[in-house]
Amino acid sequence: MSNTKMILKKDIKEKRELVNIEVDRFLPRKDEYPKQIHKAIRHTLFAGGKRIRPYLLINTYLLFEDDIKKTLLIAGAIEMLHSYTLIHDDLPEIDNDDYRRGKRSCHVVFGSDIALLAGDALLTSAFEAITYADINDKLKLKIIKELAIEAGNKGLIAGQMVDILSEGKKINKETLEYIHYNKTARMINLPIRFGCYLADASEEHQKRLEKFGHKIGLAFQITDDILDIEGDQQTLGKTIGKDKKAKKATFPSVYGLEESYKMAEKLIEDAKALLKPYGEKAKLFCMLCDFILTRQF
Ligand code: IPE
Ligand code: IPE
Ligand code: MG
Ligand code: MG
Ligand code: MG
Repeated sequence: MSNTKMILKKDIKEKRELVNIEVDRFLPRKDEYPKQIHKAIRHTLFAGGKRIRPYLLINTYLLFEDDIKKTLLIAGAIEMLHSYTLIHDDLPEIDNDDYRRGKRSCHVVFGSDIALLAGDALLTSAFEAITYADINDKLKLKIIKELAIEAGNKGLIAGQMVDILSEGKKINKETLEYIHYNKTARMINLPIRFGCYLADASEEHQKRLEKFGHKIGLAFQITDDILDIEGDQQTLGKTIGKDKKAKKATFPSVYGLEESYKMAEKLIEDAKALLKPYGEKAKLFCMLCDFILTRQF
């Protein structure tokens, strides 16, 4: 492994631990009554997962400020919400995926009824967690509102809806971008925006980083589509070949593999250019951009 990869891996691991501690402290113990729900929640939430979204929030904050304490619970809330989307995305009625984060999916282990509830619980708990963050009420309200918008029926849910509606259809490029922007890029971009809010970054920085988030968010879903074809199931921790089987609208299905890779590469190149003004401070961010493009999991 190259030196930069090791530095990034170590940094992601350290921040993942901090976020996990915070989330673990917030959630009920797994043997608390009624234990089936708490077990199901923890099964997927702590199965692994890259924790990219918390990492983005914390590292955005670090471009401007030092003490990350106040970012952790909000970063954890975003991860809880993200984990809910995975549990529901895997359900037989949606992607019917029985393998997630290297383990059997939540509904396979606990049944669809409990998996549905575990997703619901993670979604609602995310909003509760934000109310306990060590920030002023005005900022809490702003964060809660924007999380609701981005994850709701005008955002992520809309993306998931069009993803389902597009199965088996020949779709145009605008629709494909609509799906990927809404179902994935918005939730990649949001922690970056929250990192700016928490650090009270100027509007100029916010605008620049918003563009950055949009680009890496799209690239992230393009590489997800590519990995569904070229990935190794064990390394990836989820089933491969599912998109083709379900006739999903993906970048490779519309543009082909090679062109999709080139598009992701260009997005990452443009994203990195946006980080130039931050110099050394954005070193880990640049490494993360490369990881998004070349990741195997
Ligand atoms: C998977 O997200 C779903 C997509 C939006 C592509 P991640 O690739 O971030 O999954 P985890 O959190 O690491 O398991
Ligand atoms: C899912 O996209 C995005 C969300 C969970 C919102 P995919 O369906 O491609 O994600 P994977 O491949 O199952 O992780
Ligand atoms: Mg899906
Ligand atoms: Mg899926
Ligand atoms: Mg996928």
